[in-house]
Amino acid sequence: MRAMLLKLLNIVFFFSVLSQSLQASPQNLEFTFNGFYPPLTDISVQGISSVTPKGALKLTNITFIESGHAFYSKPIRFRDSPNDTVSSFSTTFVFAIHPIVQSLGADGMAFVIAPKFSLPTADPSQDLGLFNIINSGNDKHHVFAVEFDTVHDPFDPDDNHVGIDINSLKSVKTSPAGYWNENDQFNKLTLVSGKPMQVWVDYDGRTHQINVTMAPLRKEKPKIPLLSVVRDLSSLLLQDMFIGFSSATGSIIASEHFVLGWSFRVKGEAPLLAIWKLPKVEKTDWMAWFTHLLAALLIFGIFCTILLLVCSPICLVRCILRRRRKYAEVIEDWETEFAKNRMKFKDLYYATKGFKDNGLLGRGGFGSVYKGVMPKTQKEIAVKKVSNKSQQGLKEFVSEIASIGRMSHRNLVPLLGYCRRKDELLLVYDYMPKGSLDKYLHNSPEVALDWNQRIKIIKGVASALFFLHEEWEQVVIHRDIKSSNVLLDAEYNGRLGDFGLARLCGHGTDPETTNVAGTWGYLAPDHVRTGRATTATDVFAFGVLLLEVACGRLPIEVQDSVSGERVFLVDWVFQFWIDGNILGAKDPNLWYDYEVGEIEMVLKLGLLCSQSEPENIPTMRQVLHYLRGDVTLPNLSPSDLRGSERLLGIPEMGFSESSLSTGGSSITNSQLSGGR
Ligand SMILES: *[C@@H]1O[C@H](CO)[C@@H](O)[C@H](O)[C@H]1NC(C)=O
Ligand SMILES: *[C@@H]1O[C@H](CO)[C@@H](O)[C@H](O)[C@H]1NC(C)=O
Ligand SMILES: *[C@@H]1O[C@H](CO)[C@@H](O)[C@H](O)[C@H]1NC(C)=O
Repeated sequence: MRAMLLKLLNIVFFFSVLSQSLQASPQNLEFTFNGFYPPLTDISVQGISSVTPKGALKLTNITFIESGHAFYSKPIRFRDSPNDTVSSFSTTFVFAIHPIVQSLGADGMAFVIAPKFSLPTADPSQDLGLFNIINSGNDKHHVFAVEFDTVHDPFDPDDNHVGIDINSLKSVKTSPAGYWNENDQFNKLTLVSGKPMQVWVDYDGRTHQINVTMAPLRKEKPKIPLLSVVRDLSSLLLQDMFIGFSSATGSIIASEHFVLGWSFRVKGEAPLLAIWKLPKVEKTDWMAWFTHLLAALLIFGIFCTILLLVCSPICLVRCILRRRRKYAEVIEDWETEFAKNRMKFKDLYYATKGFKDNGLLGRGGFGSVYKGVMPKTQKEIAVKKVSNKSQQGLKEFVSEIASIGRMSHRNLVPLLGYCRRKDELLLVYDYMPKGSLDKYLHNSPEVALDWNQRIKIIKGVASALFFLHEEWEQVVIHRDIKSSNVLLDAEYNGRLGDFGLARLCGHGTDPETTNVAGTWGYLAPDHVRTGRATTATDVFAFGVLLLEVACGRLPIEVQDSVSGERVFLVDWVFQFWIDGNILGAKDPNLWYDYEVGEIEMVLKLGLLCSQSEPENIPTMRQVLHYLRGDVTLPNLSPSDLRGSERLLGIPEMGFSESSLSTGGSSITNSQLSGGR
């Protein structure tokens, strides 16, 4: 059993050796490779050469700037003794060159006889991997080659030729690739066609004739060789030489070079190849390769599309949510009845271009005012942003806005609507092109108003206030009469704005609440004392406004910037009156275009209104009569008005200094100490 197995193994071994190399002795050698099927012992591959699993000798793949060699690994004896001439030899092989780009090849391949089976001097990227430029042509090489060149070098006839090379790539003889057929006609062959071709190289040791013949695979060996030279190789070939193939790839283009079958014999004709046994050319199918690439790209594209399809709704939802948040408003059930006064935040956002600072008209105690243009109607608006952290009293306020929205008086700034967000209330007013009164009073001489304009403004504000106090269906106390709340329309009519705000920001509608709201300098001492706001509180502030308009001075002026001593306008004017020169208090910017009686009346009326005893303060109806001249102001003397404590002793009443400031700043939510 064991013996049988051994015998069987021996037989297998014998056949495998037989199929590759019949006589392995270097003396009289011949071999045949009908394909390079494993197990393969006599072929040595170097560089990027390899033997494919299907039995093709692949000299190069498409790695750029590389060379590959494949040699029969045993030496061949070309001379019987060192002094003998070179024996005849014959070889035939089948090769194929498969390019990446159709019919563009690089660099080509060669059948080689060389002293060693490695070619240490070879430049990988040039000269078919055979020689490099520097030592090309050196007699010491002892290299014989038959080249199949697919690159047009300067010394080459074309890029599709066969040549016999001796120690140099500059061939001894070249010919375009092709063969002579039976009728002595030359048929061209394209080397880089990917098609297998058979080559015969024969040397006659006696006549020294070298014949190179080629033909398409399965054709008979042509009678007439492609190349034929007479050259004694005795000086070239050493006694023992190695035979094989060499190839290289270019830097831009590359080809796959294959050898499919090979036979060789010294002193005789090369054994015939069994063509049917040869492997197929394992071309890399570039179409398939590109198809795969395209398929991969397509799959990637589909993947991306799916990703996009999945992601875009998420992004869209996020985007919508962000928009929602950006334009979010607060609407409660009770507000439905005020729906017609309600405006969309989005519209206001667009109108004011996102509440940008360059649209800022002013910043006051209650918030900032922005100019805007309604997108649809192109109407100019002023949007007041009131920060309202506490929601207390809001409902009342909104209902008030709604009712005020219905109010129509030519001396009130029309309130167009409102909008509510989380911590914000937005009030939308008509835009008043000429701005607020305080700018004209306190910025002179740049801008100034003449007396007629001033009296017109005063009368306008008085009639608006009278309307709020008495003519409207309910009593509306403004609580923040001051010059910066008087706005001027295109005709310089005074219009009262910001009504009701002080009430909102002073929390609530209950006059009993002990909250002080308003602007320092315009506050009636009685209001400060009790926290109760009445119509008299408004009249007091109006009185201060009268004096402000007539004198062009702030309600409180800092007399001495070092000590910070403040002078109240009311006291200041009063002093002029005591001194018997009340007209001395008038605005020096007023020239002679005023009526002395009228300005004196306004000054005295201002003092009459801003006196500390609320019961002595006239009503707006009376004030309006005096202003219009329907009723003449009673002939008053300073002593008539001088109450014992008429001066505003506010600091002693518990305000901290920090909450005080001169002029137009507002005090909101300020409380008397101990008020709660
Ligand atoms: C080419 O063949 C060499 C040696 O077999 C290998 O290392 C290289 O990866 C191959 N390159 C390509 C592009 O197939
Ligand atoms: C070969 O030739 C050289 C001289 O050319 C001679 O010296 C040598 O003996 C010869 N060798 C043989 C083996 O004949
Ligand atoms: C070379 O080819 C010629 C025919 O052109 C032939 O006569 C000669 O014998 C051939 N030589 C060899 C070595 O095959």
